[in-house]
Amino acid sequence: MTPSNFPPGPRARFPGALLLQTQGDLLGFFRRNVETFGDIFGFSPFGRRVVYLQHPDMIRDVLVTNQRLFAKGRALERARPLLGNGLLTSEGDFHLRQRRLAQPAFHRDRITQYATAMVSLTERMSATWHDGMSMDVHEQMMSLTLHIVASTLFGTTVDDEAKELHDALDGALESFNMRMLPGSELMERLPLPWVRRFNRSRARLDATVYRIIRERRASSEDRGDLLSMLLSATDAEGDGTGMSDEQLRDEVMTLFLAGHETTANALTWVWYLLCRNPKAEERLHAEVDALGHTPTIADLPRLEYTRRVVMEAMRLYPPAYAIGRRVLEDYEVGGYTIPADSMVVVSQFLVHRDPRWFPKPDVFDPDRWLPEIAATRPKFSYFPFGAGTRICIGEQFAWTEAILVVATLAQRWRFWLAPKQRISVQPRITLRPKYGIKMVVRDR
Ligand code: HEM
Repeated sequence: MTPSNFPPGPRARFPGALLLQTQGDLLGFFRRNVETFGDIFGFSPFGRRVVYLQHPDMIRDVLVTNQRLFAKGRALERARPLLGNGLLTSEGDFHLRQRRLAQPAFHRDRITQYATAMVSLTERMSATWHDGMSMDVHEQMMSLTLHIVASTLFGTTVDDEAKELHDALDGALESFNMRMLPGSELMERLPLPWVRRFNRSRARLDATVYRIIRERRASSEDRGDLLSMLLSATDAEGDGTGMSDEQLRDEVMTLFLAGHETTANALTWVWYLLCRNPKAEERLHAEVDALGHTPTIADLPRLEYTRRVVMEAMRLYPPAYAIGRRVLEDYEVGGYTIPADSMVVVSQFLVHRDPRWFPKPDVFDPDRWLPEIAATRPKFSYFPFGAGTRICIGEQFAWTEAILVVATLAQRWRFWLAPKQRISVQPRITLRPKYGIKMVVRDR
């Protein structure tokens, strides 16, 4: 039974009622609930208590101030069959240890080195394009960011396998809708079509990840990249034997997935929003042209408008659109008690479109990010990379990559939206464009 001081919310006790209310538009459904119930609402889909928190102070408390009162949510728990016990899914001291081991690969001086590869891989892709070429820009961005992660963090190429990996990833992510259903733990033991598809996809992804590990172990070369750091890491507090191949596999798989799909989505939405906002596109072109050369990391301070475009795109289409946490003990918030074992959700998609912090929230306006305007908003009204001890380890990597990729491509190409296509968002693990986005590129 739901306790009486549990927050009010949509009446959707039964899966059918919930589906009817969402009408296939999950994000719209939650936006309507924010309008009706305000900063806090709760409901019990499938017998699970879920509470949405909308105010930036509540978000700060969940992610930072009171973070020890929460564990990772069910979505990530259910991602374990793919990600194992890597950085995204692990908890407690083990997570802290793994995070410390990986951290040096994300230091500023390493990112400076990666920046050169980020730009040259972008130029390599751009060289395969031609004036008037039609493309699915999401596919192109996925392939680019996959190559960037493989090259910078793991010192390898995925030239021969990129397409297969892309399909395998799609196959693996497809299963997550099923995995979120009650009873899916039992279902996944049966030879159901989605289970078989998932197993095939995972085997395909594993083949690449284990190949990368095997090659590097065989060469015993220390390239100073993330893979070398993980390989040479020995557990000073433990038995000193280093990481097993299985643990390495989990970390590599996690970084492969977390490190490319998110940034690819951000880049895709950037191109889409620029197509829809020609004035912003013009200002971006003026800024990147003024550089007079292919961008480097040293140019970042001169790419301020480009940065604002990326920030605004991630406001409207945050690649990680919600963060779920499991409540470990009864939690008091806004005069309500959220019982232990409930879920709390803080959603970037909802908070980033809250008109209190972002007037005319659906309008794309990069100048919201001019420092004097941004300074008037509460800190946790914008949190595309999360916060607290679980903040994205790749945040600086992602900013550098997104700004340099946008600047490099915008110097050479103008993107045009292909007519007559359906564009809609698909909230899976990340916020993808459901049908891809077809565009034509033109020489500038
Ligand atoms: C625009 C791009 C990106 C966005 C929006 C993003 C977003 C996020 C968010 C919101 C979290 C926190 C999840 C939570 O608290 O439950 C996270 C965690 C993480 N991200 Fe990212 N990310 C991006 C790019 C990257 C990149 C480029 C990498 C690696 C190269 C990466 C690796 C990770 C890892 C390993 C974690 C888990 C960290 C931990 O729990 O210690 N991400 N990311």
